[in-house]
Amino acid sequence: MISFSNIKGFVFDLDGVITDTARFHTQAWRQVARKVGVTWTPELAEKLKGISRMASLDLILQAGGKQNDYTEAQKEALAAEKNANYLKLVDTLTPADILPGMAPFLISVHRQGYRMAIASASKNAPRVLHNLGISAYFPNIVDPSTLSKGKPDPEIFLKGAAEIGLRPEACIGVEDAAAGVQAIKAAGETAVGIGDAHILHEADMVFPSTKQLTLNNIMLRMGGRLSFKLRPRTAE
Ligand code: BG6
Ligand code: MG
Repeated sequence: MISFSNIKGFVFDLDGVITDTARFHTQAWRQVARKVGVTWTPELAEKLKGISRMASLDLILQAGGKQNDYTEAQKEALAAEKNANYLKLVDTLTPADILPGMAPFLISVHRQGYRMAIASASKNAPRVLHNLGISAYFPNIVDPSTLSKGKPDPEIFLKGAAEIGLRPEACIGVEDAAAGVQAIKAAGETAVGIGDAHILHEADMVFPSTKQLTLNNIMLRMGGRLSFKLRPRTAE
């Protein structure tokens, strides 16, 4: 693993990492699955994490053997309906919905001068960040409509590093999805997984939740030393 002292920036996934919109995506897709008569399973929900809107719909239809039953126009309509339901849920978000420990983590990352970018497959990332009140931290958001391939392809994390002017080796990617961890590793970045260590086994380190996500904990896992003094939490 690369030394922590070489790290200059963080490329963050959004849904399921900064806030728990993963449950909103699940809720909204579940309604679509019910409508098209596909049985919903936790495995299907897990598989959709990090996957683009249209690719997610394709996976749902495939799970029920219905991939040939809908025209492109009908699929667009189903995806639009899902997004409308999802946005209703997203607009209930407030700064209190930032995941535990994540706000102090973002503050310390910013204060220590690390560069920060968002590498989310979601076209709604700017709206989510706005509702959480943290848009100011993220002038650099990869536009998913510019991607030729989604996660697990490395493209989004390579673009995230490029957005902040860094080589991938100087970046840590933070992800809650297996496809996202694979994308980070394929990009040549250090992967921090948030969630289940079995599901995220390809990550360089996994924390069970954002509560354990601190610069100090990352540094310890990378076997390095901090090149700066951490400010006490109370001072933030
Ligand atoms: C990812 C989510 O961040 O964004 C996926 O993990 C979602 O579940 C994808 O499908 C696309 O999001 P949106 O908001 O553009 O439909
Ligand atoms: Mg995610």
